Amino acid sequence: MTDSAARILQLRAELEQHNHRYYVLDEPSIPDAEYDRLFNELKALEAANPQLVTTDSPTQRVSGTPLTAFAEVQHEVPMLSLGNAFAEDDLLDFDRRVREGLDLPAGDLFGGGAEIDYCCEPKLDGLAVSLLYVDGVLMRGATRGDGSTGEDISSNVRTIRNVPLKLQGSGWPAVLEVRGEVFMAKAGFDALNARQLASGGKPFANPRNAAAGSLRQLDAKVTASRPLEFCCYGVGQVVGELPSTQVAVIQALKQWGLPISKELRLAHGVEECLAYYRDIGARRQALAYEIDGVVFKVNDLGYQRELGFRAREPRWAIAHKFPAMEELTELLDVEFQVGRTGAVTPVARLKPVQVAGVTVSNATLHNMDEVARLGLMVGDTVIIRRAGDVIPQVMAVVAERRPADARPVAIPQSCPVCGSHVERTQLVKRAKGRETISEGAVYRCVGRLSCEAQLKQAIIHFVSRRALDIEGLGDKIVEQLVDVGLVHSPADLYTLRYEQVVVLDGFADLSTRNLLAAIESSRQPALARFIYALGIPDVGEETAKLLARALGSLARVQAALPEVLTWLPDVGLEVAHEIHSFFEDEHNRTVIAQLLERGLQLQDEGELHAEFSACASLAELIDKLNIAGIAATGAKNLADKAGSLQAVVALSQDWLELSVMKGLSEKAKQSLRDYFANPANVARAEAIEQQLRDFGMHWGSEKKQAEGLPLAGQTWVLTGTLELMSRDQAKQQLESLGAKVAGSVSAKTHCVVAGPGAGSKLAKAGELGIAVLDEAAFVERLAGYGIVL
Ligand code: IVH
Repeated sequence: MTDSAARILQLRAELEQHNHRYYVLDEPSIPDAEYDRLFNELKALEAANPQLVTTDSPTQRVSGTPLTAFAEVQHEVPMLSLGNAFAEDDLLDFDRRVREGLDLPAGDLFGGGAEIDYCCEPKLDGLAVSLLYVDGVLMRGATRGDGSTGEDISSNVRTIRNVPLKLQGSGWPAVLEVRGEVFMAKAGFDALNARQLASGGKPFANPRNAAAGSLRQLDAKVTASRPLEFCCYGVGQVVGELPSTQVAVIQALKQWGLPISKELRLAHGVEECLAYYRDIGARRQALAYEIDGVVFKVNDLGYQRELGFRAREPRWAIAHKFPAMEELTELLDVEFQVGRTGAVTPVARLKPVQVAGVTVSNATLHNMDEVARLGLMVGDTVIIRRAGDVIPQVMAVVAERRPADARPVAIPQSCPVCGSHVERTQLVKRAKGRETISEGAVYRCVGRLSCEAQLKQAIIHFVSRRALDIEGLGDKIVEQLVDVGLVHSPADLYTLRYEQVVVLDGFADLSTRNLLAAIESSRQPALARFIYALGIPDVGEETAKLLARALGSLARVQAALPEVLTWLPDVGLEVAHEIHSFFEDEHNRTVIAQLLERGLQLQDEGELHAEFSACASLAELIDKLNIAGIAATGAKNLADKAGSLQAVVALSQDWLELSVMKGLSEKAKQSLRDYFANPANVARAEAIEQQLRDFGMHWGSEKKQAEGLPLAGQTWVLTGTLELMSRDQAKQQLESLGAKVAGSVSAKTHCVVAGPGAGSKLAKAGELGIAVLDEAAFVERLAGYGIVL
């Protein structure tokens, strides 16, 4: 054997090992970069020695040209389906039939008779697939089809990372047809749908559809880009020896590198099956993938043969189903709710229907774009889906069932609560000196705090735990205070008197005094809490903390120009404009002034944070002016040449001097002249410069160093569920290391920690190429900094 051939074999074996550790055992053994290095070395060697390429090489997962159609595959052993049990009695009947079929003693008044051992597994909600291994090498993958004839999807199954192209170890039958389910985990599904939406595509209704759509692609490259997984639960055609029980067979498949369910158990008798069903049912929502029930199989293969089949179902297996998560029902009406920021959102009123054990009569419709995307009309039959504690969703319309009198859904002209005008929000895109305005998906009631719906929500937010934290001021009480006309703005809370409160529903002497004391003790909020409590659109707790920490005073936050705000990490121009226009608004200014007049004293006000003083540069300022044709490099050249804003303006007006300047295109020079020819633009630039100076952020002042914490200056994002610690804990640890924890992923994000259930943020991190850690890796990273949980 040549050196290359030997090295190729060694690399393949090593890569297969790592692949198996990573995708099947979930225990990554080497860093991704190291894997890539080995993979690329193998690719290079194979390219140099094409005669040595084999189909089971890890480089061959995605290859070949798109097909025009799938070939047919005859199943040697038919692929059957399963009978269903819905109630516990159905399962007891199944167990009785099994024992009768085997002629085992039946139970009587004094005992249960012989107990049967059952192999228990979750019933994954995906697609049944057959994988044919000949001499340990994957030769073919096929769909179930009608059970006798399926489709050849070999190139597609090869792209599924946890499907071994070659079996491991030894002792496998010469011909081994493995059967199992191809599915998409919840996180993968969410990420895929986020990607679909971002690219203007249609999202998939559920993980099952997504898996089916991804597997039936004629171009395997598309399949390869989808987060599919495989889990095996049995065998079909076998030439050779296998163990004599179901569980032992599955364990053997595991030894050969095939992924099996972590939830596989052996139950002695039907009672243990029922316990298994209840246990998995209770954990259903927390599982990383969707299941629609559990499957019980008689464990003894001799018994399986004895029991045989009835029609297309085995007598030795049954699916015990969970209540369905999707149901059909009728859309009776669409009503409109008004939220804290005035957003008018459509809500579906449904003919009540049981979904996964809960009666559903309302579902969110998000916004009018969603209504349009669904093509929804009142009177339609719709598919409702309820997953976990998530608000039920309308997934699709059953178009064939639309009645003749179905009517379109229209946004109301005026607010259903206060009657004010309802306006469509505008999306303002600012790029290179120009603003383009397009229609947003959200409609807003313009009534602000004069709209009772908005007022109530605003106050509920203002007093909530993470805002001013006024204990005892629950939603119902807030509603009452507004309804009886005692409170017209958050500032009115601070004028409430004993005799006004004590007469309200549910109040007596002690509760009144407690409430007034709670309000009293909220008079000294930290600046960050106060900013958050104001409910500025798009300003969550993190942004509020950032504003408070960076700018150090309400006066600075209130006065900050949008461009100046964008110097803060993670504040983009859109949010900056939201913040600025919130404080520009006359009504908001009045409420804030009243709050301060009525004795609210903000804490933690102080200097501008060291990190931000002297952080600006002239080049950045020029860049932020968004002059057409002048990007970062052009701005830098200009700044280097001119040295001050005044000099840049002068240069733009000195035709000759500008003409001979290097490092700027003709077009850029022309737009620079045009830009500063407009006095309003000169004034704007000067105002920004002046404010930077006032705030102490100017390049003229001396740059102070930020604290030397290991993660200083970094922004992290937490997403999905963490199991070893709470999110708050994770956040605290990161902050203690100097990192900032943000709520959304952007190009400025350094790292994303993703637990199970992570969705769009994880997808975005993928798109932007941002580092992602799972919880285990995160814990290890913390340990590296000496933080042990
Ligand atoms: S056993 C003869 N086990 O459910 C045995 N099926 O409703 C046939 N499924 O077509 C299948 N998880 O796609 C089996 N642990 C599991 C399963 C499972 C999901 C699917 C499979 C099958 C369908 C029958």
